[in-house]
Amino acid sequence: MSFVSIALDGPSGAGKSTLARRLAETLGYLYVDTGAIYRTVGLWVRRQSCDPGEEAAVSALLGRLEIRMQVEQDGVQHMYLNGEDVTGQIREPEISMYASAVSALPPVRAFLLEMQRQLARTHSVVMDGRDIGTVVLPDATVKIFLTAVPEVRARRRWLELRERGNTDSYEQVLQDVIRRDEQDRNRAIAPLRQAEDAVLLDTSGLDLEESSRALLEIVKEKIG
Ligand code: DC
Repeated sequence: MSFVSIALDGPSGAGKSTLARRLAETLGYLYVDTGAIYRTVGLWVRRQSCDPGEEAAVSALLGRLEIRMQVEQDGVQHMYLNGEDVTGQIREPEISMYASAVSALPPVRAFLLEMQRQLARTHSVVMDGRDIGTVVLPDATVKIFLTAVPEVRARRRWLELRERGNTDSYEQVLQDVIRRDEQDRNRAIAPLRQAEDAVLLDTSGLDLEESSRALLEIVKEKIG
């Protein structure tokens, strides 16, 4: 049996996770939020009071880390860190920075690569991340690069955080978005970039419904 894989890459706040989840639901595929996996590593490193930029120290911690991903009845992808459900905790803004920092380390990327590929070998997937079309699934059936201008992405993230009770200002969120973009685009290994054969979708001027429709159209055109 052959599986279909849809790679959805782009910077944070482009609407990837919401759109990817909806697309997976529509198609009946497994949704894989790879950012959540990096966030789980970030949380682990934070809990061990380890500097997320220290490659050797972070690498030494990976041996004691067991990550499991499970889609539960609510349709949400839950993340388990050594058996503990950390789905809520990995969304803290502080963990975003930890995730971004550890994701620049080669041992961390190597540790997670096989886990991601295995999911695509055993399911039809919509996988969202930064390097899915370029590194993780270079032969993905459909590749889409989703983006929006930083101000729009920051505003979306700010609204989302506010809904969860976070009081960070819009300016603060914008600074974080810009800093994380920089970090994700300029790292030496698997930087955020559009794959040559990816279709670009800019959602700056589109609301969720419009973005969702545009995305589905791109996919239908490729897989019929
Ligand atoms: O998508 P997100 O904001 O949850 O991702 C958190 C961090 O993880 C992000 O700053 C970059 C990193 N990441 C990555 O390097 N590669 C991926 N495939 C997904 C996320």
